Amino acid sequence: MLRTEPNIVVTGTPGVGKTTLSEELASKTGLHHLSINEVVKKHDIGESSTDPDDPNTKIVDEDRLLDVIENDLQEGGQIVDWHACDLFPPSLIDLVCVIRCDNKLLYDRLKGRGYGEKKLQENLDCEIMEVLLQEARDAYEEGVVVELKSEKTEDVDESVERIEQWIRNWKKDNGKEGGDVKAQGKKDEDDPMFLHG
Ligand SMILES: Nc1ncnc2c1ncn2[C@@H]1O[C@H](COP(=O)(O)OP(=O)(O)O)[C@@H](O)[C@H]1O
Ligand SMILES: [Mg+2]
Repeated sequence: MLRTEPNIVVTGTPGVGKTTLSEELASKTGLHHLSINEVVKKHDIGESSTDPDDPNTKIVDEDRLLDVIENDLQEGGQIVDWHACDLFPPSLIDLVCVIRCDNKLLYDRLKGRGYGEKKLQENLDCEIMEVLLQEARDAYEEGVVVELKSEKTEDVDESVERIEQWIRNWKKDNGKEGGDVKAQGKKDEDDPMFLHG
């Protein structure tokens, strides 16, 4: 089945601003915010961690997760909000936004969430080491992955605008008007998502 709306993964270290962007993007575009945290809760597919410092973390059964969301992804129009990205089949994902945030800000945000020192440090390391960016680049083709900053409110507005433009282009290229009219010879340089990305 040909999707008429794209699937967009919004990923990054916990606290960088995935949910903030996903909600705003969903309200502006009408795409569906598929919060994997909510899916895991609803379908009870997370096992509590055995780490005594971190009992609230859930270890997610990725096969079961994919079973649960596969129909939604096939249908399209999903904004997939999660702190991992390489489990989603590349054939079903059209854009991967890796959200980034300055470490001082991230520290404050995670502290505000009540994270303990160990978990806090793990997540700050994850952001510094660009773990999610690397995971995205390893799992998806180059033109699919884009980095977006989420430090102040204007960053969210700017990202939403860029993604809205990207969606318009995607729909043109993927023939929402019918038929498969994938653009020929289109270069990433023509694409507004990747001009500053
Ligand atoms: N661009 C931004 N400007 C100001 N605050 C932000 C921005 N992005 C995220 N935040 C704040 O940072 C915190 C974490 O954001 P959230 O979207 O929940 O992150 P994630 O879903 O990646 O864990 C929230 O309190 C949110 O309001
Ligand atoms: Mg979130």
